[in-house]
Amino acid sequence: MPAKKGVLELHEMKRAGEKITWLTAYDYPTATFEAQAGIDMILVGDSLGMCVYGYPGTVPVTMDQCIVHCEAVRRAAPDVFVVGDMPFMSYQTSDEEAVRNAGRFLKEAGVDAIKLEGGVRVISRIKAILDAGIVVCGHIGLTPQSSGQLGGHKAQGRTLESAQAVVEDARAIYNAGAQLLLLEAVPPEVAAFIRDELPIPVLGIGAGAEVDGQLLIVSDVLGTFQAFTPKFVKKYADLAGVATAALTEYVADVRAGRFPEEQHCYHMLEGEHERFLAYTGEDG
Ligand code: KIV
Repeated sequence: MPAKKGVLELHEMKRAGEKITWLTAYDYPTATFEAQAGIDMILVGDSLGMCVYGYPGTVPVTMDQCIVHCEAVRRAAPDVFVVGDMPFMSYQTSDEEAVRNAGRFLKEAGVDAIKLEGGVRVISRIKAILDAGIVVCGHIGLTPQSSGQLGGHKAQGRTLESAQAVVEDARAIYNAGAQLLLLEAVPPEVAAFIRDELPIPVLGIGAGAEVDGQLLIVSDVLGTFQAFTPKFVKKYADLAGVATAALTEYVADVRAGRFPEEQHCYHMLEGEHERFLAYTGEDG
């Protein structure tokens, strides 16, 4: 198992041109697999709303849900850099509320950093959280919590004006002092410019190859989320197919009396069956 990376090691990886690997995880087993695979960072994303709870989006996700999932991931991956994702309405109302909720991620779940969506419009929140001594990852481009304002889950930065807005958001986040930046669904041309300009790790999900590292949603990677698959996803396994086939076989086995078999049974201890038959009156 490689040594745990902190924010300084992640910055060093950028300087050395080493790609940073990042995946979401929401539960103990998945985070265990990711740690065994040697992942550098785990995001306990509010995408858990769709991937775990079956909500139509991320908006209904609560702080308490995020904390429970972060705790499970932390237990599974004590040596991985874990980022807690601030859910909708955990930071939008005031700087104080943002700091209080960011603090919960560290105090209750032991994460290494928090992530929040938005650029220029959330700069005072980012500064307030940083002032509390918490490592911050900005998240701009397609920001799912405000996708209604973006006209849906649409890539950002595809026109000059939109690209300028993304660049301004990136600069504002860096100038506020954030240590990490995530670009979601942004053209590679724009992402590469930001990666070159900023000295902090610029990670991408759907932002092309010219960034310092890649994030994907583990449910897409393993094929457990079936509702839709974004263009930027590479599916590495079909666990939904594997799981459904296995469970279909179980249902058929039980119905046909093929399960359980002798090997799956706990028999009574020696001599105890005779005593039991005497007790039930079936001994003859
Ligand atoms: O919640 C999440 O998984 C995210 C990614 C979509 C970036 O924020």
